[in-house]
Amino acid sequence: STLKDKLVIQTDKELTSSPNKVSIVGVGDVGMACAFTLVQKGLVSDLVLVDILQDKLKGEMMDLQHSMAFVKPVNIVADTDYKVTAGSKVCIVTAGVRQRVGESRPNLVNKNVEIFKSIIPQLVKYSPETIILVVSNPVDVLTYVAWKISGLPHNRVIGSGTNLDSARFRFILGQELGIAPSSCHAWIIGEHGDSSVPVWSGVNVAGTLLKSLNADAGIDASARKLDGLHKKVFDSAYQIIHLKGYTSWAIGLSVATLIQSILRNENKVFAVSTLIKGFREIKDQAFISLPCILGSSGVIGVLNQHLSQDEAEKLKNSVSIVVALQNRIDI
Ligand code: NAI
Ligand code: 2OP
Repeated sequence: STLKDKLVIQTDKELTSSPNKVSIVGVGDVGMACAFTLVQKGLVSDLVLVDILQDKLKGEMMDLQHSMAFVKPVNIVADTDYKVTAGSKVCIVTAGVRQRVGESRPNLVNKNVEIFKSIIPQLVKYSPETIILVVSNPVDVLTYVAWKISGLPHNRVIGSGTNLDSARFRFILGQELGIAPSSCHAWIIGEHGDSSVPVWSGVNVAGTLLKSLNADAGIDASARKLDGLHKKVFDSAYQIIHLKGYTSWAIGLSVATLIQSILRNENKVFAVSTLIKGFREIKDQAFISLPCILGSSGVIGVLNQHLSQDEAEKLKNSVSIVVALQNRIDI
């Protein structure tokens, strides 16, 4: 008999399925930041890694498995065959090309649409009940592509969207005010990227609107200052890519927070990319970030957020930019 037979008296079969199974497609810097954060936070019972690079997959899987003595147990598997993803509650897609220094997100669209054509059908084949969380860029258009190809209901196809931009905004505000970012309540909606819309009319700390305090400061001066803070937000990805080649840690934590709300049915509100047709008189079939409630069936509600006239106009402009890019792709 084996050492295990001597140590353990097996009284029942081990279960192999789990409601907390999450698959990640793409084990690059972003995929692995997501994987590490999910493991570290103890959010998943089963973690599946998929990529086209066999050695990289095995190396990442082994490296993560060696952390099991320090975290809640996770069954980690990795393969190039999508069979291993069967029965996933959520599939996170981070596969594809990323920006080079100075390159824009929309520039990635054609290559990543082609990659999505090979990935999405496989995910749905093995997990027809899954929720797909798209991270690859340009994330809004690729979320639309994932929705179209998958045939899933729109509440189950979500883009990581401007949850990251909102977090950057809150960090920058926190630094300006000397207050923890978690106490700076601020939202960025619209396209994840250059046309994103900061909802200044709602920015508040402890319910006190910053806009209301700026009334005496002179509209022009304060508007310029505020625009400058938003510019810092959308410049930050370009800056990080210039400095380290890619962004990873904040998107990993952003994604893990979204996954937590889904797996634990928390109904928390996040700015994520969702089908916007029908909201705010928008008629386009496109995905863009609005504050959404995330629960175990995906997006279960969209907030009717107060926007100033200027913010509503900027949101329309952001939608038209995403739609224009979407109209250029072939799926
Ligand atoms: P990376 O180059 O480190 O990793 C990409 C991975 O995708 C590689 O391992 C590659 O082998 C894999 N891949 C390529 N084609 C594939 C296919 N057909 N099937 C399966 N896997 C495939 O890139 P990184 O830095 O991880 O970025 C990934 C994506 O995430 C990029 O599009 C990037 O722009 C985007 N991103 C999005 C963010 C967001 O906020 N939405 C934040 C940061 C990055
Ligand atoms: C980011 O904003 C590059 O979309 C990526 O970090």
